[in-house]
Amino acid sequence: MPEQEPASAYAFFDLKPAFNDMLDEVLVGLRSERKFVAPKFFYDVRGSKLFEAITELPEYYLTRTEMQLFDRHLNEVRDLVGVGGCLVEYGSGSSLKIRKLLESLRPDAYLPVDISKDHLESTASALHRDYPWLHVYPTCADFTGPFELPPVVADHDKIGFFPGSSIGNFEPAAASRFLSNVAHTLGAGGHLLVGVDRKKDVGVLEAAYNDSAGITAEFNLNLLQHLNDLLPVRFELDRFRHRAFYNEELGCIQMFLESLTEQTIELGGEPIVLQPGEFIHTENSYKYDVEQFVDIAAAGGFAVHASWTDDREYFSLFLLVVEPN
Ligand code: AVJ
Repeated sequence: MPEQEPASAYAFFDLKPAFNDMLDEVLVGLRSERKFVAPKFFYDVRGSKLFEAITELPEYYLTRTEMQLFDRHLNEVRDLVGVGGCLVEYGSGSSLKIRKLLESLRPDAYLPVDISKDHLESTASALHRDYPWLHVYPTCADFTGPFELPPVVADHDKIGFFPGSSIGNFEPAAASRFLSNVAHTLGAGGHLLVGVDRKKDVGVLEAAYNDSAGITAEFNLNLLQHLNDLLPVRFELDRFRHRAFYNEELGCIQMFLESLTEQTIELGGEPIVLQPGEFIHTENSYKYDVEQFVDIAAAGGFAVHASWTDDREYFSLFLLVVEPN
């Protein structure tokens, strides 16, 4: 039998993202007047599984609404951006979403960018196996800061993908800075497909982060378990409870862990004192009007090429294009 040329390439690019000292980083948050821990600490293996479970909750409309928008409009996205090119995913997220996108848009190459090497490797190799026509170039980098795409995709048209309203985790000004880094990596004429959760009835928003099955509470509390596993610290999870409120002024859902008792936690030998009722802030999830998001995109160097929303206007999909400067 003649040897067959491989139909597609697979190459892993490790840009070796610098890890901050995690103990120092957590200490800075827990020493401060209003205590906080960054939301990236949600996502250990159990946290990622709990987030998956959240996306299936009846109250958590975000994922389901975005998937419906993909089903309805990805053919229009394909007509606007054209087939071929390189799909750059910021964060190697849900396999269901990326498969829908790959099948509709039919890019030549798929380049997921993620800070977690193992997760990236396993999801990217599965896609390489399942789509023999696709070049797969997983790239290990911290996409929240500036980085360069590997030269192998230099001549491809780029379409970026940032679904799920993950952009809502950034403060508005940081979202614009992130978008301007994205614009730089995608290059002139590059597109970005981004999912954005909309402002809406407060009851609907608060229910999505206070589900009746208590999964979001488990997800929030698991952050403390993750810190226990990672650092010289021993949080007692039953001394905290999950809280989530919509902050009207800021336009975001804010999640907290409320201390139920007065307690002192030793973190790397340093005592951290919590009063009963004191909060540790764990997440902001910004919600945007169309006009607000258009401004944030413009500040990041993008114009809106097209956008779609569902009947209830709960969630929007924006197809952005890098503005010439
Ligand atoms: C993954 C950041 C989009 O803000 O809705 C879900 C995370 N937190 N429930 C969101 C989350 C609590 C989620 N994002």
